[in-house]
Amino acid sequence: MMNLVMRSLENEFRNGDNIVTTLLEHNSNYVPWYALQNILARRGIDIELRVAGFDPLTGELDIDQLASMVDSKTKLVTTTGASNFLGYKPDLNRIGDIAHSSGYQQPRLDSFRGSYFLVDGAQLVPGTPVDVQKINCDFLAWSFHKMGLPLGVGGLYGKKEVLESMDPFLYGGDMISDVKLGKVEYNDLPWKFTAGTPNILGIAATGRGISYMINMGLGNLFIKGKISEPERIAKEGRQLVTDILMNTPRGDFEITKQLTDAENNLYDQFEEIDPDRLEVLYDANERLMATRSVVTEAMTNIMQHEEKLTQAAIDSLSKIPGVKLYGPRNAEQRSGLIAFSLEGMQHQNLAFELNRKGIEARNGTHCASLAHEALELDGTVRLSFYVYNSMDEVEKAVAAVDEIAKGR
Ligand SMILES: Cc1ncc(COP(=O)(O)O)c(C=O)c1O
Repeated sequence: MMNLVMRSLENEFRNGDNIVTTLLEHNSNYVPWYALQNILARRGIDIELRVAGFDPLTGELDIDQLASMVDSKTKLVTTTGASNFLGYKPDLNRIGDIAHSSGYQQPRLDSFRGSYFLVDGAQLVPGTPVDVQKINCDFLAWSFHKMGLPLGVGGLYGKKEVLESMDPFLYGGDMISDVKLGKVEYNDLPWKFTAGTPNILGIAATGRGISYMINMGLGNLFIKGKISEPERIAKEGRQLVTDILMNTPRGDFEITKQLTDAENNLYDQFEEIDPDRLEVLYDANERLMATRSVVTEAMTNIMQHEEKLTQAAIDSLSKIPGVKLYGPRNAEQRSGLIAFSLEGMQHQNLAFELNRKGIEARNGTHCASLAHEALELDGTVRLSFYVYNSMDEVEKAVAAVDEIAKGR
């Protein structure tokens, strides 16, 4: 998705423009901008890539340095929403304000103030209630496979007027509205950016998966057969309402026409016990508000679950002699992963030993090469926690690290 933004903005850059990013980035939010610099240089357009650092002890982004790099030549400010190595979540509101007050004049959009602000949400969206209007970002990119959903499906939010001003990045298929010899019209948003035949299966599976995840976050899933009939109807009814909210397009829509016979039956039973919850489904606006509210509630619950597990892992791992943790110690400042090293042991060997004990751990630079280089590390080991992990599993992982540390 960062490539989409890069390719679609490629022709707008002017000589002397710059891009401001950070050392916290995953390679996929550094390499496209590095490549762009080279592509434009070959056309005689020189742009600068400025990279803000971070505190080596806490992993916190140096926002003052970032602010000092942004000026009236900054076309784009881009940062990760959560580092996939240090876990750190930068203050996106503040960075957005810095970007938008740069004084840069976007060449194709007179009405827009300042530099564009692109957030890499790959590690943020899966475990945080993200509100693009609150962050006031111009773009937010993420991948669904980081949420336990299918590979090859990603999301890009962009402000409408910004997307309208941009070039398509691929040509053909759905991005076409009309073709005559010598005259082609491009389609409206969002199809302008959906060239070719889409990954229909992947997208359909992602839609169902998101519903499942939101239902999980809301606590609507349960083990069948262990509860009373009215409780079952209430839980399954809430699941159905969530599915409808997550899968019904905007605007006027005949809700019950989408349902199977079994769902219609459940719908009627649920209507008898909770009619108010179904009432909102008939008004397009109320449905939109209800969707926002369930997503916020579910994602907040998922975030709190992750924070609980991450804090427990930080507290326990930091007591093991020889373990060095990277990133903030407060789980509220970070996403649900923790990278560490063990004195006197190669990261490859540590990960291998953990895997042998049944603990899934990843090692290497995790594609966060810049931050590893800044800390003079050739790799670390990373544990990640998500909605399906339990405190027992955290304890098991910590016990395994402790055992390996003692046996060195
Ligand atoms: C912070 C961050 N950004 C970007 C990516 C890249 O995602 P994808 O490979 O889906 O483009 C990752 C994946 O590891 C990531 O953690």
